[in-house]
Amino acid sequence: LDNGLAETPPMGWNSWNFFACNINETVIKETADALISTGLAALGYVYVNIDDCWSAATRNSEDQLVPDPKTFPSGIKVLADYVHDKGLKLGIYADAGIFTCEVRPGSLYHENDDAELFASWGVDYLKYDNCYNLGIKPEERYPPMRDALNATGRTIFYSICEWGVDDPALWAGKVGNSWRTTDDINDSWVSMTTIADLNDKWAAYAGPGGWNDPDMLEVGNGGMTYQEYRSHFSIWALMKAPLLIGCDVRNMTAETMELLSNTEVIAVNQDSLGVQGRKVHSSGTAGCKQVWAGPLSGHNLVVALWNRCSKVATINANWEAIGLESSTSVSIRDLWKHEQVAGDAVSFSSRVDAHDCHMYIFTPQTVSHWEI
Ligand code: GLA
Repeated sequence: LDNGLAETPPMGWNSWNFFACNINETVIKETADALISTGLAALGYVYVNIDDCWSAATRNSEDQLVPDPKTFPSGIKVLADYVHDKGLKLGIYADAGIFTCEVRPGSLYHENDDAELFASWGVDYLKYDNCYNLGIKPEERYPPMRDALNATGRTIFYSICEWGVDDPALWAGKVGNSWRTTDDINDSWVSMTTIADLNDKWAAYAGPGGWNDPDMLEVGNGGMTYQEYRSHFSIWALMKAPLLIGCDVRNMTAETMELLSNTEVIAVNQDSLGVQGRKVHSSGTAGCKQVWAGPLSGHNLVVALWNRCSKVATINANWEAIGLESSTSVSIRDLWKHEQVAGDAVSFSSRVDAHDCHMYIFTPQTVSHWEI
């Protein structure tokens, strides 16, 4: 969507994966504080996104949405002011149906009023969900909210959450700044790997202004190992997914912080070329030895060697698959070890632990000769 936003994928936090409906204004404020105190905000995680359950069960007498008086007694504008004072941005959640998924009032047929209200509160990001949609096609229900947001005059990131049901990559580029390509993630290896493969299918449709959204990060929520979370974060970054932290950032382990704060991996996600990397090669049992790669600005490539097998494996970065002539030599930097691992390699492989992922930047050494 050409609204001046999402030149690179959005980064921030969302309440759903950890808190679900157990949210309140204190959690949101403390999370904003923690994004600052941990240094995550300075790395780019600026959106503080409130998901479902912020609103009361019914609209008020003027047919407006109202924040739940028990959990958000101070209202949303106070929260927006609070995060804005810290240099952060506030996101909120609504639904393109008659109820949200947790049965709060939906915004279908209230698009203009609700968009006005969100803008008046100072909201910067809207996640727009798909529950209770009366069977009306998403292509009909999502554009009215885009137009309503646009009409407010406030620039608001528009996140389409229709779970990939109507192949949104094919139509949402002109409607939203991101679109979910799959059903909800859960905090497991099976869910994460399944979603990565589903999202991969739509790589060609992502770019500045509009991104495929394979759902929010589960890193730090406890259901996967350190290696599995490193895979999750690496592949989400390479796929140019929104990097929306889904854990309790007030209580992160050092390992979680180390994963989420890897500036070299974040830089891949935020690279100005904005091309979604893909699975380019697989071998081994059920294709479990995988190479994912994509172009970056400055003729660099990002290459991930992802071991989805149940045992340690040596994975080869197949030159042809990653788009290099066999004679091209590259310098290679390891983004997790934070060191240069080769100067002028014409082949490369690495031994990768089960369910772990190594991630590199390959810089071709010969490109400049051909570009004079
Ligand atoms: C849907 C969405 C989730 C979350 C919940 C909230 O399932 O896909 O991301 O927003 O609704 O109810």
